[in-house]
Amino acid sequence: ENAERAKLIEAHELTAKLYHYMLNNSKQGVEAKRYLRERGLSDKLIDHFMIGYATDEWDRLADFLAKRGFDLALMEKGGLLSAKTDGSGYVDRFRNRIMFPIWDKDGKTTAFAGRIIGEGQPKYLNSPETMLFTKSKIVYNLHHARTAIRKSKQAVIFEGYMDVIKSWSAGVKNGIATMGTALTKEHCAIIRRQAEEAIICYDGDDAGQAAALKSIPMLEAAGLRVTVAVLPKGKDPDEYIGEYGPDEFLREIVDQAVSITKFKLIYSRKNHILLKEEGKKNYLLEAVDIVAELSSPIEREVYLKELSREFDISLESLKQDCHRKVQELQ
Ligand code: GTP
Ligand code: MN
Ligand code: MN
Ligand code: MN
Ligand code: MN
Repeated sequence: ENAERAKLIEAHELTAKLYHYMLNNSKQGVEAKRYLRERGLSDKLIDHFMIGYATDEWDRLADFLAKRGFDLALMEKGGLLSAKTDGSGYVDRFRNRIMFPIWDKDGKTTAFAGRIIGEGQPKYLNSPETMLFTKSKIVYNLHHARTAIRKSKQAVIFEGYMDVIKSWSAGVKNGIATMGTALTKEHCAIIRRQAEEAIICYDGDDAGQAAALKSIPMLEAAGLRVTVAVLPKGKDPDEYIGEYGPDEFLREIVDQAVSITKFKLIYSRKNHILLKEEGKKNYLLEAVDIVAELSSPIEREVYLKELSREFDISLESLKQDCHRKVQELQ
């Protein structure tokens, strides 16, 4: 088992180098390189994240590994190759994809995520669960980000690899992501070991915002303070940086991370049409419910005052409704 692990790590490290080499130096990699350029990735960034390219051949990697004496059955078990259906050998698992190495906590390559070039399904193909790689326990980029997380005591959590990478180039060195899976208890515990605060920075679509709502109580349960950096509707961090640039991303999004209560108010607000009396009323009722979840009366009053000012409703009425809700919750 230990010997198999060591062999597989060795193979993953070599494979990452092969993919990276093919991106930078092969004729087949030219289109992939152009795609990454168009997405705003510099050579320096591509090198730092060891991004690569798996060519559109059936056995480029299988040949490479066989020549170096690796046991191909083990390579299949480790997720680098797939067994042919007729049992006659092995083919590459990843073909014609942009390759992102996934590292364990020591910075060893233990898996890959492969993105299709342009449109198509599946958009990302990951390594399967193997003896090296358990999705629910791996946090993308933790190895790079650890120093910055420890220093700032904060970790910024993104949804995607590209968000982590583009944010890194914008100066966010404490950015991490889950492997396209929902945040797990194990992820939260791993983050808590390095950080005191988690800044959620998910996509500005409904899925991202809903995922943020689910992540909040989990991160809190692990003992983290939580704030939320909110993206405008329909943008993810990668797209935001592409459109508005790194400075604006830091200034307008990351530095403007809001409290959980504020985030819930913003989220609820998006679901109501405030120009209509009915929508305004429903929003206010929901807002009061959100504020009632706060245990501190002072904090509650701060938010209620804001609502009172903005909607020209007496603070007394808001307090009464809120008080009723607080008692219901007890
Ligand atoms: P780009 O289009 O390359 O910028 O990716 P994205 O990160 O913006 O993708 P999206 O917001 O759609 O999804 C967020 C994350 O979910 C991705 O980074 C992946 O980790 C994961 N994901 C998305 N699509 C797939 C898929 O088809 N298969 C798997 N396994 N994961 C996916
Ligand atoms: Mn290089
Ligand atoms: Mn999304
Ligand atoms: Mn996205
Ligand atoms: Mn994206």
